[in-house]
Amino acid sequence: MPMDRQLKNILTSVLAALVLLFISVLSCHAQSLSQAAARINVQVGTAVNPFFFSNPQYAQTLAREFNMIEPENAMKWTATEPAPGKFNFTAGDEVVAFAAVHHMKVRGHNLLWGQHNPAWLDSGQFTTEQLHEMMKAHIIAVASHYRGKVFAWDVVNEALGNHGEVKPGIWYDRPGIGLAGKETEYVAQAFRWAHQADPDALLFYNDYDAEGLNAKSNGIYAMVKDFKKRGVPIDGVGLQMHVGLDNVPKDVAANIERLTALGLQVQITEMDVRLPINSSGELLDPTDLERQAKIYGEIAGICAAHPGCTAFQTWGFTDRYSWIVHFTHGKYGQPLLFNAAYEPKPAYQAVLDALSKANPKIARRRAEIAARH
Ligand code: XIL
Repeated sequence: MPMDRQLKNILTSVLAALVLLFISVLSCHAQSLSQAAARINVQVGTAVNPFFFSNPQYAQTLAREFNMIEPENAMKWTATEPAPGKFNFTAGDEVVAFAAVHHMKVRGHNLLWGQHNPAWLDSGQFTTEQLHEMMKAHIIAVASHYRGKVFAWDVVNEALGNHGEVKPGIWYDRPGIGLAGKETEYVAQAFRWAHQADPDALLFYNDYDAEGLNAKSNGIYAMVKDFKKRGVPIDGVGLQMHVGLDNVPKDVAANIERLTALGLQVQITEMDVRLPINSSGELLDPTDLERQAKIYGEIAGICAAHPGCTAFQTWGFTDRYSWIVHFTHGKYGQPLLFNAAYEPKPAYQAVLDALSKANPKIARRRAEIAARH
């Protein structure tokens, strides 16, 4: 072999070794979730409440660990349209401002839901024509206001039931916007209006108990497949992932696989893992923290391993503020990555490890999918 070829071979090997070393140093020593996530081009996020931004521990933990935030309630109807036709973006704007300062993306949540709507909407007696106009006006006003500020929207939240059927509700058939009996057509219409208002935002359908393969996720799959076929502007499906020790979904990877095969992306949008607690809020079994960690690690690992899973998000980050205790009437709590004193729990370490261990080779592919419309 001529000398210069030999030298070239040696140099190539040295370079390859250096690159490998660099990658492994990066992967072993990620100091935060966002550092580990950046290496594999995944967004790592949490739901937030802007009311707590003035708390230094809250703000510092957020800024250090996450590269994406989503308002827990601040962009829902109750916040954004507290009176008919009167919009208020104050709280949502605070989320956007915090994200801008800390170079984070904002995930918008949500434009249409059958629950947690303002009382004026729930108890009003509206005609289908009025509801049609109200739904259109709301989606267009909110999505237009946040155009260029929110990179992705949960356009419709929780429209399907446990058997994959369209749930009854104000937007569908009580009395609905004029599309009652037309199955998912009102959902499709929400996506069209959202796209009209913000053509650059990624548009998601978001739901719970449909993370693995089951009747509900089959219904979602059929709906989004139909949307893709008919050119309804949808970009992805959000898997909420509110789980407990006894109801961890199976076949999550297979569900992600079939959804992404349609040309959609998937995001884990609201993960928490509830643990049984006593009336003082203490764990019934402290070793549950390890079980919780394992579940977090598994799901984060599944997302990190699939290029079509573009975000991993938890529903809050400190056990101090989680909706679970209230939601489960005090039976469950401590569902998040940090304890009430903002200290990382075993679950935090498990997510950090899962993200750090993920193969960086799919990072470019993930970035392509994340940017695709
Ligand atoms: C919850 C919030 O966490 C609570 O603060 C609020 O009272 C009700 O809504 N699925 C969703 C979220 O999509 O919007 C819900 O958030 C939790 C379940």
